[in-house]
Amino acid sequence: MEIEFVAVGTALQPKTAVVQIVFEGQPPADSLAAALAASRFTGGKGQTLDLIAPAGLDAPRLLLVGAGKREAFDALGAEHAGALAYNTLKATGLEAVRLDLASLGAEHCAHAALGLRLAAYRFDKYRTKEPADKKPSVLRAQVVSSEPEGALVAFPPLAALADAVSFSRDLVSEPANVLYPAEFARRVKALESLGLEVEVLGEPEMTKLGMGALLGVGQGSIRESQLVVMRWNGAADPNAQPIAFVGKGVCFDTGGISIKPAGGMEDMKWDMGGAAAVTGVMHALAARKAKVNAVGILGLVENMPDGNAQRPGDVVTSMSGQTIEVINTDAEGRLVLADAIWYCQDRFRPKFIIDLATLTGAIITALGNDYAGLFSNNDELSQKLLDASKTEGEPLWRMPLPEQYNKNIDSMIADMRNVAAGPAGGSITAALFIQRFVNNVPWAHLDIASTAWKKPSANPTIPDGATGYGVRLLNRMVQERYEG
Ligand code: BES
Ligand code: MN
Ligand code: ZN
Repeated sequence: MEIEFVAVGTALQPKTAVVQIVFEGQPPADSLAAALAASRFTGGKGQTLDLIAPAGLDAPRLLLVGAGKREAFDALGAEHAGALAYNTLKATGLEAVRLDLASLGAEHCAHAALGLRLAAYRFDKYRTKEPADKKPSVLRAQVVSSEPEGALVAFPPLAALADAVSFSRDLVSEPANVLYPAEFARRVKALESLGLEVEVLGEPEMTKLGMGALLGVGQGSIRESQLVVMRWNGAADPNAQPIAFVGKGVCFDTGGISIKPAGGMEDMKWDMGGAAAVTGVMHALAARKAKVNAVGILGLVENMPDGNAQRPGDVVTSMSGQTIEVINTDAEGRLVLADAIWYCQDRFRPKFIIDLATLTGAIITALGNDYAGLFSNNDELSQKLLDASKTEGEPLWRMPLPEQYNKNIDSMIADMRNVAAGPAGGSITAALFIQRFVNNVPWAHLDIASTAWKKPSANPTIPDGATGYGVRLLNRMVQERYEG
């Protein structure tokens, strides 16, 4: 999607649909009265009215997009309007859209452009035979602004964010035969072009570090496990204490010997959504040259059944020295995170650690497909995340970490077991397990099994499939609370 900000009065190009934003209670020009009278369009949020060859207008098509009450309109509203316009017009055969936003400020114009960019994301590299008339035809957008220069200044950081979200969505969309741990690591390494430093540790290095929990998960796969360390040093003081993100990167989760049922197992290609989100955040920070020091760590493995796979009942020793009885090999994400988080705090002594993981099916049961679950040992960090979640429109809900459930993951023969005896509170016991590997550092765990892959939802900026959830939320939190 090519985006241009132009001044009011710029000539209309051919094959371009004109889009007008309409607020509730502020009807558009009189010439549209007859069309409005023949519809239920009132300008309510999410409504559209698509007018073909409207009389008295040069444009071949006019789309009215409802934006709700003017007083309640904000940056997210502008994004949603841009996204909704694109979604409605993308397959009309027209080649461009022109958003008439002269009544809005520069910031809202830039956000409408972000909405267009996010909605226009598509993972189509494996379609070789798609008929031309099924492909989106709209490839360009003009945003008409009363301050095009201002919009041009406001847009680059948002464009960087859109690039980062797209990068993250691509990783999640890739099938596991293409994106296995070493290939994931290679794609991250390529981000050094943005100024990130990237180190990749293989199995020999992780063995030396004693990462028995992570390595146990990957030992049934012919693909080598990898630990990726990304660093962005944008703070004035390059030695200032960093913030840190850790991602679960299970490139495919069969469940291992505790194998999953066949139905829906293909979904487990996106069990690396946490690692993809961390990669996206680091991408965004580097691309917009954020004034912060940040570390991103990815635990990349493939969980396979095999003659060499770990067995239920095996005991592994984590890098922390704590031993774990692996009761269920399908509860593998927490094993990966145990070592990745320990390594992170041991090496970097960060200000905080936020981990992201498609960790439990139970979080989908608890929260549905729009909200991710937040678990944290720190109220201040939680509030910062919840605030950013509101601003960016990535819903998040805080869950409890009750000490009294901790005994449910005690083991008879080791320091802990990797699952509780029953399914009760499955997302909570998973978080409590991870907490046993966190020492005196503010920590938050985001269970994004619910949000990493979209089942149809109300947000027009998220096409079906990989959502990129978490990139915007964390980028916003950093921008607002940890820069400068
Ligand atoms: N990757 C899954 C969690 C998951 C399930 C993500 C559905 C996305 C959609 C995780 O590794 C897993 O298998 N969790 C088990 C834990 C159980 C064995 C305690 C689960 O949720 O069933
Ligand atoms: Mn699993
Ligand atoms: Zn998993």
